[in-house]
Formats: sequence, structure tokens, C-alpha cells
Amino acid sequence: MNGHNDRPSQKRFKFSQNGDDHYNKIREERHNLPIYPARGRLISEVQRHSSVVIIGETGSGKTTQIPQFLFEAGINRNSIIAITQPRRVAAITISQRVAQEKRTDLGDLVGYCVRFDDTTSERTKIKYMTDGMLLREAISDPLMKRYSVVILDEAHERTIHTDVLFGVVKQAQHERKKLAMKPLKIIVMSATMDVDHFSQYFNKAPVLYLEGRQFPIRVLYCKEEQSDYLFAALVTLFQIHREAPAQEDVLIFLTGQEEIESMVKSIRDIGQNVPGNTPNLLVCPLYAALPAPQQLKVFQTTPKGCRKVIVATNIAETSITISGVRFVIDTGMVKAKIYNSHGGLDIMKVVHLSQAQAQQRCGRAGRESPGTCYRLYTEQQYEAFKKNTVPEIQRCNLASVVLQLLAMGIHDVVNFDFMDKPSTEAILSAIEQLKLLGALETDADLKLTSLGKLMALFPLDPKLSRVILAAKDHHCLEEILSIVSLLSVDSILYTPQSKREKALAVREKFMSSEGDHITLLNIYRAYKGVNGNKAWCMENFINMRNMQTAFDVRKQLREICMKHSLPLESCGQDTASVRRCLTTGYFMSSAELQKEGEYVSLSTRKTVSIHPSSALFHCKPAYVLYNELVQTTKCYMRDLCVVDADWLYQAAPVYFSKRKPGMHTHA
Ligand code: CDP
Ligand code: MG
Repeated sequence: MNGHNDRPSQKRFKFSQNGDDHYNKIREERHNLPIYPARGRLISEVQRHSSVVIIGETGSGKTTQIPQFLFEAGINRNSIIAITQPRRVAAITISQRVAQEKRTDLGDLVGYCVRFDDTTSERTKIKYMTDGMLLREAISDPLMKRYSVVILDEAHERTIHTDVLFGVVKQAQHERKKLAMKPLKIIVMSATMDVDHFSQYFNKAPVLYLEGRQFPIRVLYCKEEQSDYLFAALVTLFQIHREAPAQEDVLIFLTGQEEIESMVKSIRDIGQNVPGNTPNLLVCPLYAALPAPQQLKVFQTTPKGCRKVIVATNIAETSITISGVRFVIDTGMVKAKIYNSHGGLDIMKVVHLSQAQAQQRCGRAGRESPGTCYRLYTEQQYEAFKKNTVPEIQRCNLASVVLQLLAMGIHDVVNFDFMDKPSTEAILSAIEQLKLLGALETDADLKLTSLGKLMALFPLDPKLSRVILAAKDHHCLEEILSIVSLLSVDSILYTPQSKREKALAVREKFMSSEGDHITLLNIYRAYKGVNGNKAWCMENFINMRNMQTAFDVRKQLREICMKHSLPLESCGQDTASVRRCLTTGYFMSSAELQKEGEYVSLSTRKTVSIHPSSALFHCKPAYVLYNELVQTTKCYMRDLCVVDADWLYQAAPVYFSKRKPGMHTHA
């Protein structure tokens, strides 16, 4: 025994003392997690049943530990354990943590796979991935053959992808059993208690409750309704800051990136001028689009004499746990997708939370000791919140889901085994849209056309895939790939609050009277012209990291195009053909200028306005397309493009013959 085995253990002594300390600390942390004592029970339940539901407070160790337990117990039988996450940030940061715990490099035993970024290798057995990615894989492998365990994490979030996955995974499990193949274990993990539904759906799966560690939390409501929750959040924060000892960290929930960035700036500005002896403030933004190194900052221990303030979207509600938080400031708002079934388009809108979400946010304050949650709304308002969040699948456009199901060979989409069925109307409207986009045969059978099959190959919204495929006819695939890539990443425009005017002025030169898509193309071309130069990015207020991500995305989309022999042509300066291409995908979101100077949407006949950030804000073209509607004080169109009435009509004659815009008189 000796000889051989001695050497590795001697080698281990050569690890630096610090490295071992660090590892020991991590191991101790692991053993202290509430989940640790449940290890044996958990493994035996999973061994005995094909599906198991697990409930445990956020931070109890579900996401990081359970895959390791199953792996260590050999339940995966040498194939892969998939753990799905609704958010890419969570998939990335958690896999990094688990790789560290397992003392391996990321991409070895532990890896992650998110859209346009796959770090896994053939050695990877614990694979964190977005729910969207697993769904995409199921198109080419509906039986999910490479997995022995699928863990559907954050199931309570009920994202559209998770909900579809429920059905797809359940079916795969069933089929594999029927075909006497290697069994597929399904584990559903949730941070909230309402799990009967999950258990029923997965053939009465046993439910495992993990001992939570939750300290009492004092909940304080506002006495009256607040008209400006951002201001209220600032006031509350500085009240806490003046009174509470250092080291007691604060978590503020806001709705989105722009809001967060401006709040971070205000806090830093005010923080410098707080009179008296207050701790230093360490302000950390946290939102999905934030670059990873900055995201990791929130996990670092707060330095002595300091107070950490985390300003986050609902990403911090359940999927990410941050230690040290004693105070939660809950604005009661969240940005959510709302489906507008007449327009066939999702709208991003800031809405009130559900009571379940408010409870979750509250819970973040009591992870390590008693805490306080300030609700910036009244108790009456809280009572009026919906009890539970409506699952996304019942409020989003289903075109992409229906296309994916059809591509998987699931034809009876109307009767698909959804845990909570979307309305038949919404499914039919998705089918209608896919027909208009040319993805489906127009007869009653739901059959994908050859165009539809190609559309399903791209990890994109069907409208964008349609645009890519149209580029062949307009000889501008190079340009379209650039634009689609830029639209698929977070904004490449970097507009700091303090230098807003300057940023807008310096970027004026890229502005195109043809609209935002061509403006993006101009920026892309200029960037490429200087070979991705950092100084140039600084000078022009361009976010270089997002730009590079767009390059990666473009490369991958380009590969798919090449694989399917789409001609990579450039239209040079003939950008009208680019706009014609865009029309083939976006004709359903077009608007027409009215005499009074306002626009109406051609699909809904509702009044819509050009967003002030658009290149077209000061122009009034007769017809525009838009990629997105944002409802704030008005209903704003974002990412606009000037089009001809004729193009709209040619893109979808049937659609427009019913809608009768003024366009016929223009022709
Ligand atoms: O999934 P669940 O919310 O039950 O917990 P988890 O995500 O597995 O987190 C368990 C613990 O690991 C938490 O207390 C986190 O503080 C810690 N963790 C960490 O330190 N760094 C990460 N990147 C992720 C988790
Ligand atoms: Mg988790």
C-alpha cells in the first residue's frame, strides 16, 4: 500500500499553507451549512425514488451541495448531473464556487454552460446550466441521454423555460423507462413552501424539507404610500447608516440596471458627505448584466469598520446568497415581462411584487442573525399584492416555446403536459405568429417548414432567426449578424450619469437617420476599424466588454450560418437592404405616424412613442419598426428602424390586408 500512495500525500504537503487554510475554511463552511446533516437522508431518498422535491431556505446549500452529494454517492453512475438555473449569473458564479470546493479547475469536473458560453469538457460531471440551454439541448436529444440526474433549481421562480422543462424532462423520464434505458432522476428544488403542486405533477414525488436556519425579522411598513420609491430608499438607507453599527450590511432591491447604477452613484455621493462618525460605505451593484468580476465583489467579506450596501435586482431574492446582510430595503417593485396578446409582443414593465416575493426578500435579512426589513409600501398595499407570482408561461409570448416544442417533435402543443397551462388563446396566437413568420405550414397541421426548422437552430427569438435567414435574399448576412449580435448582448453604449451630455455628443457621429440598428452597425464598423481599441472605447463611451461579448456571439452565430451554407455576403453601404431584412422579422411590431405627430402601433392601434434614447427621437419617419416596448409614463418603442410601407406589406401581405394601415395610399 505504502509506496505509491505515499507520494501523492507527500506532494500534498507542498501546497502552500494559505491554499490549505483557504480550502479548510471552505470545507468548514460546507460542513456548517444547514443541508449537511440531511446528506444521508437526501441521498437515500434520491436512490429510492425517480423524482424528489426538495425545499430549503435560500442559503441552506441546495444549489452548491446537493450535486456534490449525489456525485460523491455515485448516483450519477458516471454520467452528467445537470443543474438548471433561471439566470446565467447564478450558473456562472455557483459553478465557480463549486469548482473551488471540489478543488478543480472550472471546466474539469465542474463546469457551466450558458447561451454563447460553454466551459464544460468531456470530464465534466457536474454541469450548471441555464434552463434555456437544457431546453435547447433537448431539441437534438429529447431523451436527455447524456444526463442521469436533472436538478431543476429555483423551481419556485417558474420562469418560462423552467416550466417547459418540467414537461420535457418528465416526458424524457417516462420514455426512458418505457424503453428500458438508464433511468433519469428528476430533482425539483424550491425555496418556497407551496410545493404540493410540484409533487403532484411529478407523480406524487416525495417532498424533503430541509431544516432552515432563519432568524426573526422585524418588518416595518411605511405609514403612507410613497410616490418616489428611489428617494424613499435613499432616506431609509441613510437612516440605517447613521444608527446601525458598521459591519451590518444593507441589501436594497430595485428593478433594473439603470436604476441601480444611478442609485449607486447617489449613495456614493451622499456617503462622502455624511456628517459625524459613520462607517465607510462599500456600495456594490448587482444585476444580471454586470461583468462577473464586479459581481463577485458582493461576496467578499466587508472590511472592518465598513458597511456594505448591495443594490440589486431580484437576482438577490433567491438565487444568490450574500452573507452579512442585516437590513433589507424592499421597494416592492420588480421588472417583469407582460404579454400583450393583441400585439403579440412582450412588454417589460415595472410592477408590484407578489406577497410570496416580498416574503423572500424579507428573508434575506435573517440568514445569520435577527434582521430588519423596511418595506417602502404600506401594509394595505401589501395586502393588495397578489399572493403568488403568476408563472411566466401564463404571461409571455409563446412563439419561441412553441417553435422549440415542435422542433423536439412534440406536435400536440395545445395539449402539452404543462404544470400550469397557458391559455389556449396564447398558444394559438403563438402558432399564428409562427405561421406569419413562415416557420409553419399554413394548413391546420402543425408542421415546421424548412425555414422553421432552420429558425429553430438559432438560440434566438424566432423573429431574430427569421431576420438572419432573410439576409440570404438581401445579400447582407455580414451586417445582419453584427446587428443581431449587438442586440443579443447588454448595451454596448456606456452612458455614465455624470457624463451623459458628453457621451451623447461624442457618439453623435455614429447616429444614423435610418435608426438605431444602423447606428449600432456604424459603431460596430468603427470599432472593427480600430481593431477593438480600448482607448477608442473610452473616448466614445462604448462598453468594451459587452462589445467583445457581441463579437463572441457573432462568431457562434456565424458558425451556425456556415454550417447550413448561408452565404456570408456584405451589402457595403446599401443599408436599405439591412432594413428590409429586419422587416421580415419585425413587421408585427411596426408603427405609423399620425397627423398629430404621434405613432400608433399597426398591430394594436395603440399610441406609442419614440424612446428619447433612440437615434430617431428627433425625426418623424412615416413608418418604423421597433424591437421592444417599455411602459413607463408612456408606452415607448426602443431600438427603432425606418422602413417603407411597401416593405411591410411585402413581408406579410395577409397580415396587413387585415389591418388596413394608411400605407396603401402611400404606395
Ligand atoms: O441554493 P441555496 O440557496 O440553498 O444555497 P447555496 O447557493 O448552495 O449557497 C450555500 C452557501 O454557499 C451560502 O451561504 C453562500 O454564502 C455560499 N456561497 C458562496 O460563498 N459563494 C458563492 N459564489 C455561492 C455560494
Ligand atoms: Mg440555490
